[in-house]
Order: sequence, then C-alpha cells, then structure tokens
Amino acid sequence: MKARSITLGLAILVAGGSAAFAGLAWRPAIGKIASPTQFDRALVAKGAQLAAVGDCAICHAGSTGTPFAGGNPLQTPFGAVYASNITPDPDAGIGTWSLAAFRRAMHDGVDRAGGFLYPAFPYNHYTHVTGEDVDAIYAFLMTRTPAKLQAPATHLPFPFNIRLLMAGWNALFVDHSPVAADPAKNAAWNRGAYLVEGLGHCAACHSPRNALGAEDKAHPFTGGEVDGWDAPGLTAATSPAAIAWTAGALYRFLRHGLDDQHAASAGPMGAVSHDLSNVPEADVRAIAIYIASMTDPDGRGAAEPTREQQVAARVAAAQIPPPELQQTSGAAIFAGACAGCHGAGAPMMLNGRPSLALGSSVTAATPRNASQTILYGLQPGPGERGPWMPGFAGSLTDDQVAAVLTYLRWRFTDRPAWPALEDNVHRIRQDKSS
Ligand code: HEC
Ligand code: HEC
Ligand code: HEC
Repeated sequence: MKARSITLGLAILVAGGSAAFAGLAWRPAIGKIASPTQFDRALVAKGAQLAAVGDCAICHAGSTGTPFAGGNPLQTPFGAVYASNITPDPDAGIGTWSLAAFRRAMHDGVDRAGGFLYPAFPYNHYTHVTGEDVDAIYAFLMTRTPAKLQAPATHLPFPFNIRLLMAGWNALFVDHSPVAADPAKNAAWNRGAYLVEGLGHCAACHSPRNALGAEDKAHPFTGGEVDGWDAPGLTAATSPAAIAWTAGALYRFLRHGLDDQHAASAGPMGAVSHDLSNVPEADVRAIAIYIASMTDPDGRGAAEPTREQQVAARVAAAQIPPPELQQTSGAAIFAGACAGCHGAGAPMMLNGRPSLALGSSVTAATPRNASQTILYGLQPGPGERGPWMPGFAGSLTDDQVAAVLTYLRWRFTDRPAWPALEDNVHRIRQDKSS
C-alpha cells in the first residue's frame, strides 16, 4: 500500500509539476470584504433548498453540532480531510469571502487566499452549478449564525500535502463544461440531469474511483464505496435491486427514505434522502426521472400489473424457508432476534414495510451493507423521523452475524452464497472502532 501510494504521488507530482511549470497553477488571493448581511429573503430561501440538494450541511455539520461549522474529518484513501467552517464568521469561517471568491471555490476548487482545495469537497460536480444558483447558496450561507469554531487543519502525507498538485489533478479530471441539455428528453429529465450531475453529486459515491481518487468517467454510476458502505450501481446492468427501480419508487426512496418495493435508505444515503425531504417536490421528481432512465431505460418497470406480480412472486418465494435451512443457527437467530419485525405477519410487515426479499443489501454482490445494518442498526438523526432498527454489534458475535447473513441470503434471494462472511463482518467492526 505504501509503495502504491508513493507511485501515485509521483504520478500526481508529474501531472501537477507540469501544470505548475506552465504557470497554470498560480491563483491570486481575492481581497477580503466586510461581512455582507443584506440579502433578499426569496434568494435565501432558494439557497436553502439548493444547499439541501448539495448536502452542504452533511459534510460541514459542526463537530460540536453547530450547523456548517465544519471540523469533521472526511476519510479518503490519502488520509483525513477536515471539512471547513463555512459559516459567515470572519476568522474561522468564510465571512470575509466575496461572492467572486465563493464562486471560484465552487467552480474551481480554489479558496479565497488562492490555495487549492482537495476534491473531498466535490467541486468537480459543483462546477456545473449555474452562477445564479451559486449566488443563492452564498446568500443562504452568509445569513447563517457565525460560529467561532476553527476546523482542524488537514495534514495529508507527502506528496499529497502539496496542495498545488491539485492543479494537475484538476487539469486531468475536472470538466468545467455545463451539463449538456438533451433536446430529445423532456424538461424534467433535463432538470434531473442538471441536479444529479451538479449539486446532487450523486456520482461522487455511486461511481467507482481510479487510483488517483477521481471518478471513473467511463463507467459512471456503476457503483462505488463510501465510509465502509457500498453505494450500489444505478445502471440497469449493475443495479443489485431485485426489481428494477422506477421513477415512482425512486421518488419515494429519495424523498421519504423508504420505498415499499425496495427498502429504507441507510448509512451515508440516509442523510442524503433526509436532505432531499427539504427540496421542492418537483426537483426530487426530476432527479428520480433522470436516475430511472439509467435503472429502467426502456420503462418496462412502470407496467404496473406485472410489477405488482413481480413483487408478490419475490415475497412469496421467500415466505417458506426450505426445511434444511430451518436447522441452521442462522435460522434460530433470525427467529429470535429478527422475525419479530421482519418475519411474515410481524406488525411491521403488516404495516406495509418491504420484505427483506426486496432490498438491495440482501441481493448485493457484497454483504457489506447488510452487515453494517445488522451490526449498527438504523437510527434516524436527531429530530428526524424514519425507520428504526436496533444494532446487534453488542449482542451477536461475528460468527452469529455471519450465520444470520447466510440465512438471509439463502432464504430471501436466488443469488449465490457470500464467501468469507466472518472476515467481512470482522473487518467492518474493526474499521468502525479504529
Ligand atoms: C462530500 C463532503 C462535502 C460536501 C457535500 C460539501 N463540502 Fe464543502 N468542503 C468539504 C471539505 C472536506 C472541504 C475542505 C477541503 C480542503 O481542505 O481542501 C470543503 C471546503 C469548502 C469550502 C472552502 C472553505 C475554506 O475556508 O477554504 C467551501 C466554500 C465549501 N466547502 C462550500 C460548500 C458548499 C456551499 C457545499 C454545498 C453546496 C459544500 N461545501 C458541500 C466537503 C464537502
Ligand atoms: C455520500 C454518498 C452518497 C451520495 C452523495 C449519494 N448516495 Fe445514494 N447511496 C449511497 C449508499 C452508501 C447507498 C446504500 C445504502 C442504501 O441503500 O441506502 C445508496 C443507495 C442509493 C439508492 C438505492 C439503491 C438500491 O439498489 O438499493 C439509490 C436509488 C440512490 N442511492 C440514489 C442516489 C441519488 C439519486 C443521489 C444523488 C441525489 C445519491 N444517491 C447520492 C451513498 C450515496
Ligand atoms: C425493531 C424492529 C427490527 C428488528 C428487531 C430488526 N430489524 Fe432489520 N430493519 C428494521 C427496519 C425498520 C428496517 C428498515 C426497512 C423498513 O423500514 O422496512 C430494517 C432493515 C433491515 C435490513 C436492510 C433492508 C434491505 O433489504 O436493504 C436488513 C438486512 C435487516 N433489517 C436485517 C435484520 C436482521 C438480520 C435482524 C435480526 C438480527 C433485524 N434486521 C432485526 C427493523 C428491525
């Protein structure tokens, strides 16, 4: 790993070095301003909704609970990058940033003083956001409560500590062109494309990344990894979903965090869908329509009767486990710890909750998301409503979690058994505690 990261470093060094050589890298500081305070209320309200699409509050959540005060680390393969304080405090935050400085950060990944930002801040997507929308987000942030908290400084190992090298990364991987409108598609699809590719930065999690940490543009939305979770593929060929996601199902999942023909949003996606509950309904529908053109390109999933039949058939197939499965320790654990909620006829199921046979975590190629959910449960954030499940990290051993995973996979899907389950569960526990 060490040797690999040095090779990577050298590759960036060459790329960054040549950009610097060409004199492309240098950026001037933009002069400080006195904090602006007067903004049109409608502009601030629009900025609030756009900031929710952009998930600014998630990464910039204050480490002490102060919104936008930053300080939380973002784990990257190159080390932890701390999110900045983006409240209008003049010292700790961005209170002295002019609109021009803010626009440059969003579009080019360069801070007010002319320093390069790391792409843990997804400016490679925000660069597609129109100037008008960036201005609204600026108005929103500049009217938040200033927080004095200084975010910790980021110290990546050499050579990644040389921020100037990001000039090379940007030259290689950042495409500043606006999201192209497709005249063959309707207005909602085009709005969805603008939101997903720009502010929504969905591909930041749902696309694979190359050795330099850049999204693989040749295979967008074919699945990525984030914080020990799999962000599933969203293309028809790579989606693990038992039943194809339609625009209607996507809308329910994205807006309400739960779709009765799939599952609840979980892990890093839980916060994303929570943010989307504060976005205009039409925008969430547009996002759903755009994503559905990947998950269900020929619109077959929308044919309702066959769809209901598909759901019913999948659930029925999982209803009665084969007798040999009943003898396993996984079956015993499921009966004791899980069936009270997930078993056929449990009150939760009678309430219209999806069967485990419909959720992607059980059909996925890796057991990662199912393991995360079983170990740590589902807990809505403070003040949020949403599905709740207890975590079993304290009550089940790695062997027992592996046994119940084997049981889920066998009973609820027609996919091959997951290999090396105990190791997988063990690693997730270790990563969580490190
Ligand atoms: C995926 C996590 C993530 C999201 C989402 C995110 N940011 Fe950030 N942002 C960061 C990180 C990490 C940094 C620090 C980067 C660095 O140190 O180079 C940062 C830095 C910034 C900076 C530079 C601040 C400074 O003092 O240099 C601004 C401005 C900013 N973000 C604004 C926003 C806005 C506005 C949004 C929402 C539209 C947003 N961010 C969403 C992670 C994120
Ligand atoms: C911070 C990373 C992150 C971002 C940003 C993100 N996702 Fe996700 N997404 C995940 C993870 C992790 C999962 C798996 C957990 C779950 O199912 O909720 C997921 C699950 C999903 C699923 C369910 C897939 C399935 O087969 O069950 C859909 C649909 C989805 N995301 C759409 C989106 C859209 C649309 C956006 C942009 C608006 C987006 N995601 C942004 C991480 C992310
Ligand atoms: C108190 C009720 C409760 C208990 C007990 C419980 N769960 Fe859950 N579980 C939930 C809820 C709620 C969800 C979110 C989905 C929903 O709302 O239908 C969920 C989701 C899941 C998911 C993700 C769904 C998917 O398909 O993506 C898995 C996997 C899961 N549970 C497995 C288990 C296992 C295994 C056990 C026992 C060790 C268990 N659960 C115990 C309530 C419960």
